[in-house]
Amino acid sequence: MAGLFITLEGIDYCGKTTQARKLASYLKMKNHTPLLIREPGGDRISEKIRKVLLNEKNAGMTPMAELLLYEASRAQLTQRVIQPVLKQGKMVICDRYSDSTLAYQGYGRGLDKKVIRYLNRIATFGLSPDLTILLDIPLAVSFERRKKEKRREDRLERENIEFHRKIRQGYLFIARQNRKKIKIVNGTGDIDETWQRVKRVVDSFLNKSDKSVKS
Ligand code: TMP
Repeated sequence: MAGLFITLEGIDYCGKTTQARKLASYLKMKNHTPLLIREPGGDRISEKIRKVLLNEKNAGMTPMAELLLYEASRAQLTQRVIQPVLKQGKMVICDRYSDSTLAYQGYGRGLDKKVIRYLNRIATFGLSPDLTILLDIPLAVSFERRKKEKRREDRLERENIEFHRKIRQGYLFIARQNRKKIKIVNGTGDIDETWQRVKRVVDSFLNKSDKSVKS
């Protein structure tokens, strides 16, 4: 499939949504027309599934139901939005994708990682990102930002520190197993410091990439 698929990953409060926006603006400046989407979400039906997943009133959701809803949202988004845009030779930037499920539901919830990898393959129709930026921050930084932001937290953010610790470790493990495609970027600095690091990774990737991306 033509086009370029870039994803951003990381634990809550790592700053990936801000960096995804900065990346989209940067690529537009370079005359590309990237589509910026998020997971779960990015499509009318997937956004509805997002609401169910993140609603704090749904605290009783079982881990398996949670996993299947994330995968359902992904299947919808991939087939209805991501694949058609990539087929046109364009760029897609996605705030989270299948590595989130391995990290959160696999390492965090402790569900069988083999099953998750299998479901990921089904829900993505075999699509995997060309480049993934893992914004890594220590838990202490995540909790510090969480205190400062003081916004209403969603169902996953309300989970305990141990859950988030397992997710961070899981992400680092996933990244070390796939060093070619997943780049770990230190996200502890301020927005601009982190952006310079992200930009360096993306520039180097674009320079090396021999894929033709339509503007
Ligand atoms: P967001 O707040 O980064 O938009 O992501 C929503 C929450 O959903 C976040 O806490 C991570 C979680 N999540 C999973 O647990 N599994 C997944 O597969 C995805 C995509 C997100």
